Amino acid sequence: MTSLSLTGARVSLTISVAGTLVLGSLMICVGLIAYKHRYRPATRLATTVGTAGRYHGIQKTENGAVSLRLEPIQEMTQRLIRSAVGPGTRALDGTAGNGHDTRFLAECVGTTGKVVGFDIQHEAIHQTRTRLTDAGVQERVQLVQASHEHLGGWLDTHWPGDRLAGAMFNLGYRPGGDHATITRAQSTLAALDQTVTRLQPGGMLTVVLYTGHQGGHDEAAAVVNWARNLDPSLGLVLWYQFLNRANPPSLLAFCKSGPAAPAAAPGTP
Ligand SMILES: C[S@@+](CC[C@H](N)C(=O)[O-])C[C@H]1O[C@@H](n2cnc3c(N)ncnc32)[C@H](O)[C@@H]1O
Repeated sequence: MTSLSLTGARVSLTISVAGTLVLGSLMICVGLIAYKHRYRPATRLATTVGTAGRYHGIQKTENGAVSLRLEPIQEMTQRLIRSAVGPGTRALDGTAGNGHDTRFLAECVGTTGKVVGFDIQHEAIHQTRTRLTDAGVQERVQLVQASHEHLGGWLDTHWPGDRLAGAMFNLGYRPGGDHATITRAQSTLAALDQTVTRLQPGGMLTVVLYTGHQGGHDEAAAVVNWARNLDPSLGLVLWYQFLNRANPPSLLAFCKSGPAAPAAAPGTP
């Protein structure tokens, strides 16, 4: 009798341990499935991480919804330039100013690339040179104290035959400097024409327009008009602006068309 009841106790203990294990595993599985389908956070599709470490661009959630973040003008500008200006390429800053854009371009082209920066002001060239030196990238940059309307001649002389992967123009006056020294439509348009000619296929030109200062509206209108009338076979122009702000700056981005597809061989359908 005693041995029978002992065996019975062992059997019921084994059954209850096995039952607990099966039930536990089932609960874990159910939990994992619920998490996967209902609670998993959005997964990134094609995103980049900016300098501030935030996610930009397209995000896709588990149920397929796509969310977009509206990037500030400077972030959008840098993202577009970065897409075209890589290590070993040539780039231009048409308005060096305080050197932020020149430095950014110098970082994009890396140790094997080259950048040229133009500005008419001695102080702007000085500020830019200091910034580049502090960043340790001055070797890859040539600074020219001259109006950007002469950039075509400079490029043809110093980098003959080379094409630009990217060019940045940040119009208006130099922050912290003389507000009367501003970019002006006539020389800006001449410089933009020369830049478009010298961009490589896939090359990117960005122009940031300001309207808050005297003369800014006229220059911005002239540049937008120039962009509207660019031959679309050369490339397309994007106009990016937040409308519901006072005197909002805007960004024009031009991407040069790629090489024409190879002509089909005679007789090919
Ligand atoms: C808004 S600031 C540029 C800011 C600069 N990109 C930066 O990252 O700090 C505009 C600059 O354009 C320069 N500028 C004005 N007319 C110019 C011209 N014709 N050619 C070249 N630079 C010019 C001004 O001297 C000024 O420094």
